[in-house]
Amino acid sequence: MPTAPASVSAPCPLDLDDSPLVAAYCEKTATSIKMAQRARETFPTGITHDARYIEPHGIYVTRADGGHKWDIDGNEYVDYSGGHGAMLLGHNHPAVVEAVREQLGKGIHYGASHELELEWAERIKNLIPCAESVRFNNSGTEATMLALRLARGYTGREKVLRFTGHFHGWHDYVAGGFLNHHDGSPPRGVPAGTAAAMLHAPANDLAATERILHESGDVAAIILEPTGSTWGQVPVRPDFVHGLRELADATETVLIFDEVICGFRCSKGGAQQALGITPDMTTLGKIVTGGMPGAAVVGRRDILAGMDFRHTARDGDEKIFHMGTFNAVPTTCAAGIAALDVVRDTDVCQQAIAYGETLIGELNAMFAAEGVSWIAYGTFGGFHVFLNPQDIPTSRERIEAGAHDYQTIKAPGDPALAMKVRLGVLLHGVDIQGWPGSPVSAAHNAADRAQTVEAFRQTIYLLRQEGALA
Ligand SMILES: Cc1ncc(COP(=O)(O)O)c(C=O)c1O
Repeated sequence: MPTAPASVSAPCPLDLDDSPLVAAYCEKTATSIKMAQRARETFPTGITHDARYIEPHGIYVTRADGGHKWDIDGNEYVDYSGGHGAMLLGHNHPAVVEAVREQLGKGIHYGASHELELEWAERIKNLIPCAESVRFNNSGTEATMLALRLARGYTGREKVLRFTGHFHGWHDYVAGGFLNHHDGSPPRGVPAGTAAAMLHAPANDLAATERILHESGDVAAIILEPTGSTWGQVPVRPDFVHGLRELADATETVLIFDEVICGFRCSKGGAQQALGITPDMTTLGKIVTGGMPGAAVVGRRDILAGMDFRHTARDGDEKIFHMGTFNAVPTTCAAGIAALDVVRDTDVCQQAIAYGETLIGELNAMFAAEGVSWIAYGTFGGFHVFLNPQDIPTSRERIEAGAHDYQTIKAPGDPALAMKVRLGVLLHGVDIQGWPGSPVSAAHNAADRAQTVEAFRQTIYLLRQEGALA
């Protein structure tokens, strides 16, 4: 049996016994405990997505609305984790709900072309600068898998260059290099040959990127999260991304922006519009569907033409293979159209960005007042909290300017502390993602912000009381 390399971040098992904070959380979520016990009989770890991993158990949710959700014990939460970044408009936006409701009576899935897929794609083309051509998929993972295949088909080259810690889903090519296996070694279950097709470079290091590109001479694509690992948790500098555009042009390498999470969030036209850099291809997910399952690969017409039956037959090329039972199902298209119309016609992106900016300022003021070295930061409709386990001297500005590498920002510190922070804010009615941080939505308001700051403050008090924080 292969053993996990030392670099694997393994938060489990966590010693959360003897923690009054954890005990209070368990008391508040008694029915969720029972559900989690039942789930562990059926699902590995009792969960259906690794990002939903919470010790000793997560909350079981019964409904959500706007910027809030409710658990099975009747507790209400300010919800930042719902939709894993898809809910820019909040839950149950009336336009999205109405569009889905109207479509449901007309049939779930035609297995044929229909006008909604065209309307959805045309809206994407109008918003995303690089989107000359569109292909729908079922998830962000499928989108990056297809984008890499298209780039290989277009260039006739085999390798793909990626950056340490950037997340591109869970398929074999990109499974390593996000949390672990930054050296390119194959993660457990991934063929060595597949892992070897991926080259790893440190983000924000143009010289290293250029060297790897030239040494290989066989790189089909450069793929990155254009705002940095985990959508800006480890920010990339805009000048680095501009440099990648130039390098890609000089070497005729396909530049792919993975905008599954930042598309329609950084601006109406995604990170590419915010940065003023047009990639050759972009992967879109989450917001693009209004929260329904689905995703898309968009980009240069000549690259996506590798999937075109007529085009490839005319040129005598083999057509690039791509299927997908649930591509562009009408209900997803209907939700996507409604959501993108709201993005196009209102200032939802700006609202979420402004909310995140104010929240970050208020969190940092509170952290300073309470004397912790935690730092909130983030630029595009969300927030990250650096728990600063080594107490390094730094600031929001330095982190956002890309002064620290992946290893520093994602240094695991004490995984039990990070988990207790998540449980502590849950205990005080706020659900965030575990790193800790979260995207925010246009449905969040000043009261939600005040509750979020207070939840972090109360968590600091509890952690201090039990000696988990100095
Ligand atoms: C940047 C990025 N790429 C790819 C993915 C994978 O998308 P999915 O979870 O829909 O497969 C995600 C998901 O969070 C993402 O944030």
